[in-house]
Amino acid sequence: MKKIARAHTNIALIKYWGKQNAALRIPLMSSLSMTLDAFYTDTYLEPSQQEQFYLNGKLIEGPEAQRVFNYLHLLQRRYGKSGNLSVHSQNHVPTAAGLASSSSAFAALAAAFAEYYQLAVNETELSRMARLGSGSASRSVFGGFAVWQKGTDDQSSFAYSLDSNPDLDLQLLAVEINTGAKKRSSTKGMQAAQTSPFFAPWIKRNSLELSQMINAIKNHDFTRIGQLAELNASEMHAVNLTAQPGFTYFEPTTIGVIQLVHEMRQNGIEVYYTIDAGPNVKLLCQLKNVKIVKEKLVSAFDHVKIINASFGPGIQYLDNYELD
Ligand code: ADP
Ligand code: DP6
Ligand code: CO
Repeated sequence: MKKIARAHTNIALIKYWGKQNAALRIPLMSSLSMTLDAFYTDTYLEPSQQEQFYLNGKLIEGPEAQRVFNYLHLLQRRYGKSGNLSVHSQNHVPTAAGLASSSSAFAALAAAFAEYYQLAVNETELSRMARLGSGSASRSVFGGFAVWQKGTDDQSSFAYSLDSNPDLDLQLLAVEINTGAKKRSSTKGMQAAQTSPFFAPWIKRNSLELSQMINAIKNHDFTRIGQLAELNASEMHAVNLTAQPGFTYFEPTTIGVIQLVHEMRQNGIEVYYTIDAGPNVKLLCQLKNVKIVKEKLVSAFDHVKIINASFGPGIQYLDNYELD
């Protein structure tokens, strides 16, 4: 019976943005994320004559297919498996837009691989497998809050669950400004960021910010979680702007939303932002403020789409289900 692997995206509140080992995707810093309920990827593998990658019902060729097959070959070598595979995947998230499609994509692909070969792997090993496809995917193995400890080698670099079902009122509003594929992938962006004079000092702050975030989560302190997430994301984007040469994922509306967040806070509406490698903004607020925050956004920017999200689950396997 065919099983489909489903993984949800995750948004980092303490970011991963640099590698110590690019081939093995060992990061320079530990990171912490929230897995989302609203965005996910479904994937299954099939034996086939030719290797083919179907994404959202379309045959994909070129670098995106190459990335998928390089990854599958790496896993096959690692687990002593062989044979041509076709990949069928459906993204319920915009692809390559800074909304973390690679996190759900490679967690789902790792799980689909484990399912296809009936590998007896635990969640730690599944997280290592997912990490090899995209670093952020290591955290999508888990629901709720997850921490990816950077480690020093393949064995020691994996994510673990901090709280799989947090009893915390934390809502994430994904503000979609531009869902087109970005020009600079996350892989390329984090490589370029290392030329910033602020990169090394930022990495030095990582363990402090991570432990402060873990404490804020343990204390159910929404305000502190929001403040730390916004600070950490702003540091990441400051590093991009100060790279040599500098770059940014921001678009004019990204700045507009940041200014609106500042304004809302001045007016007593508690909302914070985090932004990944793309122009889209994720807002953090509590349930009581969702309505007003959405109203303010819609009246300031008539062309944005807003999607409500909160905590999502870890890897799931679904029986007898067809991709849309
Ligand atoms: P994002 O912000 O969406 O995570 P990245 O630059 O990190 O952007 O990764 C985007 C890349 O991830 C795509 O260009 C593609 O190579 C890969 N990807 C996205 N979705 C899938 C999928 N469902 N299956 C396989 N690979 C995928
Ligand atoms: C800004 O995991 O997409 O979203 O490992 O090169 O595939 P690769 O990068 P990826 O980077 C994610 C960067 C980020 C922050 C984060 O998710 O921690
Ligand atoms: Co990504």
